[in-house]
Parts: sequence; C-alpha cells; structure tokens
Amino acid sequence: MDQIVEQVEQMTDLEAITLRHSVRVYKRVRIEQEKIDVIRDEIDRLNEKYHLHIQFISKAGDVFSGLPSMLAGWKNVSSYIALVGRKRDKLDELCGYCGERLVLLAQKLDLNTCWAGMFKRKEVKAEIGDNERLVLVIAIGYGVTEGSSRKSKPVEFVTDVREDDMPEWFRCGVTAALLAPTAMNQQKFIFSLDGDKPTVRTSANGPFVRVDLGIVKYHFEAVTGKKVY
Ligand SMILES: Cc1cc2nc3c(=O)[nH]c(=O)nc-3n(C[C@H](O)[C@H](O)[C@H](O)COP(=O)(O)O)c2cc1C
Repeated sequence: MDQIVEQVEQMTDLEAITLRHSVRVYKRVRIEQEKIDVIRDEIDRLNEKYHLHIQFISKAGDVFSGLPSMLAGWKNVSSYIALVGRKRDKLDELCGYCGERLVLLAQKLDLNTCWAGMFKRKEVKAEIGDNERLVLVIAIGYGVTEGSSRKSKPVEFVTDVREDDMPEWFRCGVTAALLAPTAMNQQKFIFSLDGDKPTVRTSANGPFVRVDLGIVKYHFEAVTGKKVY
C-alpha cells in the first residue's frame, strides 16, 4: 500500500491531466486490490466531504454489454465507479467535480478511464437510496492503449477575458480545462474573471453540461490552486 501511495504522490495533477485520454477498450486484467483500496479511501473522503454516495463496483457485469455498447466501442470493461448522491440542485456538477478527481487519481495509478453517460442503467449494482440518483458512471481498468488526443476549442472560444487582460495563471487554468473530458467533447463552458476571482458557467445546453462544468472546474482548480465560483 505504501508503495502505491508513493506512486500517486509522484505524479502531479498537471501530469495526470496531460496524460489522460478516454479509453473504451480494456485488457482482461484485474485491478490490484491495493489500488482498489486507494480509490475506495478517496471515495470515502469525497463522500464524507460532499455528502455523496459514490461507489466503486469491481465487477461491471452487463453495464457495458449488448449491441449499443459494442457499437459505442466499449470492450472488456471490468469495473466502474457509480456516481450517486442525494437529489439536489448541484448534484450533477458535484459528481463531475468529484468524479474527475477520481479519474486523475486513477491516471496516477496507471489505470485508464472513460466517463459514460450511455450505459445500461438497470444493470448498475450500486446502492441507490430513495432520495438518491445515479448521475452516471466512469469505466475504469487497464486500457489496451492509453487513448489518444483529440480536437479542442482554442482558449479564446471558452473565455470572455480579453487576451491583454488575461493573467498567465488564468490561461493555464483554462488550458487545463480544455484538456478535460466533456460529453461528446462539447466543451460548452465559459471562464470569466470577476476581479481576480475565476468563475465558470455553461455556454449552451447539451447532454450532461452540468457534469462537464464540475469536471472543468476541478481541472482549473487543480492546476491554479484557485477556487472557481
Ligand atoms: C459527462 C460525460 C459523459 C460521457 N459519456 C460518454 C459515453 O456515453 N460514451 C462514450 O464513449 N464516451 C463518453 N464520454 C467521453 C467523451 O466522449 C470524451 O471525454 C470526449 O470525447 C473527450 O475525449 P477525451 O476524454 O479523450 O479527452 C463522456 C464524457 C463525459 C464528460
């Protein structure tokens, strides 16, 4: 366990952000128990801090099975993280924020991930209380490849701060946000500056835009150390 914790500490968030890509095809290799323990410890911390009910499910069963899943490109997904929480206004955003923290932790553990909005909800084995909702899941495991980079919007498309007024730390934060996963790579967000306070909002409607918002917030904060409002 100590060795695994050391491994996590050796990689910075920025390195994990740069290395991460969505991976949908996995090797038939189990995740080591020590790594699962590290992920579950972090899940416990997040659940306590943000009053969520996130769960690591080691056997994916049929969640990523069937023709639609095959057509979507999923193969051999063995485990997943179920993002569950009490129904409330900010639940989607909170799941995005905490889920991406787990995605970057997985990257530091040499694991691969992919957020999934489309999967067999009925097959999810997570506990979901009466007042709770399953937002979505994150596939996790050893990828056949590390994934690949994709197109991204330029910085000026996702901020209304003028080039000349943009502090370097803000540019770094937005750049990190543009490396974040978003549903269908939609990148529908706008970062602004209110004095020296960074803010972010959605720029248009789209599937899971609120989850995306939490994800990009996490990337920005991880790289700049500044809270996003
Ligand atoms: C909220 C959310 C939902 C997603 N749902 C799916 C999905 O159902 N199927 C899929 O193959 N990829 C899904 N993705 C992955 C995105 O397609 C991917 O993040 C995006 O294309 C950017 O690529 P990258 O993650 O490699 O940077 C989802 C991503 C997010 C953030």
